[in-house]
Amino acid sequence: ASVRPLVAGNWKMNGLAAQLAEAQAVRDAIAKAAPKADVMLCPPATLLAQMAWTVKGSNVLLGGQDCHAEAAGAFTGDISAEMLADAGARAVIVGHSERRALHGELDRQVRAKAAAAHRAGLAAIVCVGETAGERAAGLTEEVVRRQLAGSLPDAATAANTVVAYEPVWAIGTGLTPTVADVARVHAAIRAALTDRFGGEGRGMRILYGGSVKPSNAKELLAINDVNGALVGGASLKAADFLGILAFY
Ligand code: G3H
Repeated sequence: ASVRPLVAGNWKMNGLAAQLAEAQAVRDAIAKAAPKADVMLCPPATLLAQMAWTVKGSNVLLGGQDCHAEAAGAFTGDISAEMLADAGARAVIVGHSERRALHGELDRQVRAKAAAAHRAGLAAIVCVGETAGERAAGLTEEVVRRQLAGSLPDAATAANTVVAYEPVWAIGTGLTPTVADVARVHAAIRAALTDRFGGEGRGMRILYGGSVKPSNAKELLAINDVNGALVGGASLKAADFLGILAFY
């Protein structure tokens, strides 16, 4: 079965209001080119509501970068999945390695956040990936399988869950795994998803993330079971992001 790919741009903690011009450029370009992929931008939460106006009526989807597990309450500084949905998001990234590393997020918390996304009607983009040390120790697949088992809620479906495989050492470094390595890990992820979720697992999108740019997009996006990309740095400039999207 063919899965509609997804190319999502994660702006991370980048973007003041002027950055909305890049979203506008993406919107206008895909209205003309109509790529055979879903296109999503995940701006900082401060830009989400404004960006919802920017992309209104277009095919650009919006996502958040993280959410709290609760719907509302005394959680200063946090943002709920319901709030992201209210601001115009259709999805939220959970368990990004930067959250895991810098905010100490554990699989069970990531799982609660993914469940919160589902409760709010959002798709959860659940990130997994090994560190350089884990890779050197030959633990890549074991780590990824463990993160998937712990981070995905039992009720995950093809419609509400996307997995993003992001080797931590490839994020923002310009380094990428070999095609064979990406193929092997994505096959292992697909097997784990199918084992646990059956047909739903076969339909879940598995994105590759980590130093994706126009010059390597073709090679990475053509790999079996790579159903799109989660793009960081190269999503900040519309020209780069569109260069990646051009694959579809
Ligand atoms: O969420 C995106 C990833 O962390 C990839 O970031 O494309 O800047 O390496 P990058």
